[in-house]
Amino acid sequence: MKTVHVQTEKAYDVLIGSGLMEQAGECLSRVAAPCRAAIITDDTVDALFGEKVQLSLQNAGFSVCRMHFEQGEKNKNLQTYAQIMTFLAEREITRSDIIVALGGGVVGDTAGFAAATYLRGIRFIQMPTTLLAMVDSSVGGKTAIDLDCGKNLCGAFWQPSLVVCDTDALHTLPEKIYKDGLAESFKHGVLRDEKLFELLENTDARMNINEIVARNVQIKAEYVAQDEHDTGLRQQLNLGHTLGHALEKLSNYAITHGQAVAIGMVYAARIAQKLQLCDAAVPERIAAALRSAGLPTQAAFSAQEIARVALGDKKRRGNTLRMVLPEEIGRCRMQDVPVDALQEVIALGVEA
Ligand code: GLY
Repeated sequence: MKTVHVQTEKAYDVLIGSGLMEQAGECLSRVAAPCRAAIITDDTVDALFGEKVQLSLQNAGFSVCRMHFEQGEKNKNLQTYAQIMTFLAEREITRSDIIVALGGGVVGDTAGFAAATYLRGIRFIQMPTTLLAMVDSSVGGKTAIDLDCGKNLCGAFWQPSLVVCDTDALHTLPEKIYKDGLAESFKHGVLRDEKLFELLENTDARMNINEIVARNVQIKAEYVAQDEHDTGLRQQLNLGHTLGHALEKLSNYAITHGQAVAIGMVYAARIAQKLQLCDAAVPERIAAALRSAGLPTQAAFSAQEIARVALGDKKRRGNTLRMVLPEEIGRCRMQDVPVDALQEVIALGVEA
C-alpha cells in the first residue's frame, strides 16, 4: 500500500492499493474510534461494493447505516442533498459519527457537501471508485452540488479525514469513464511531472496503476497544500478546463469531462506555442500521447462558439478569463486573457 500525506490545515492521508475495500474497517480505525458510520453511495457502486465495505466496517466495530441515490451527474442536486440530510437526521447521526463517501466524483462531491453542512460539519472519508475521483476530486476538499443554473455552484471546502483508493475498483470501470481519469492524469504530468507524463505516454497505465495514482495524488496534494482555498496556484489545476467546460456544455455533455479536458489541453498548448511560450513539440507531444491513450484532441466547435460559452464560466473575473498555458511538459503558467481578445486567442488553439 502507498500513502500520500496531504498537508492542509487539517492534514490527512491518502491510502492507495489493491484490496482496500475489504480492509475499509482497519483503514477507518486509523482516524476514528468505533462510532456510527453512514455510507453514502450510488446505486451502481452500492450493488458492486456496498455490502463488502459495510461488512468490513462492522467487523472493525463500527455501527453502519447505508443509503444510495441514483447514479449520475444529474443527481448531484438539491433533491439528493436533501435526501442525504434527512437520512442522517432520521438515523440520529451525531457530530462524533462519520460519513463514508463511497463512489465516483458525484458521490464524493455530494456526500462531502452533506458532511460539510450536516450539524455544521461532521467528519467524512472518501472512498473513490473511479480513476477521476482517485486522482482528482477525492483529494483537496472541494465539495459541491449543482444548481439548475450551473455546476458546483453550491459548495464548501471541507477536507476529508482520510481517502482510501482501492485500485481494484477500477477493474469494473467502463472504458470511457476510466479514460476520463487518464485525461486528468496527463494533465498532472503536463503541469509538473514530465516523468509521470512519460510513464503515461509509454506504458499502459493499468499495468502501473498504484504508482500512477500515487504520483497523481502527490501532485494534487502539493497544489492543495500550497493553496488550500484555491485563490492562486491551485488554479493551475484548471489546465484544459477553461475551454474544456465550454466544450462539454456546447456538446450537451456528449463530450465527457475527461475528453473535454484532453481537447482543452491540446488547445491550450497550441495557444501557448503560437504566443511563443513553448516549442511546437509541446502541443504535438501532448496531442500524440492523448490520441494513443484513446482520447480526442479536437472538437467540431468554432472559436466563436467556445468563446461565447467560456465567457459565462464561473472562473471569469471581471474583464479577463484566466488560462493555464504549458511552457514545457512539466511546467505551466497562468495568463489572464482580456475578454475582448478571447475569441482570437481561442482561435489559435482550435486551428491546428
Ligand atoms: N479539481 C481542481 C481542484 O481541486 O482544484
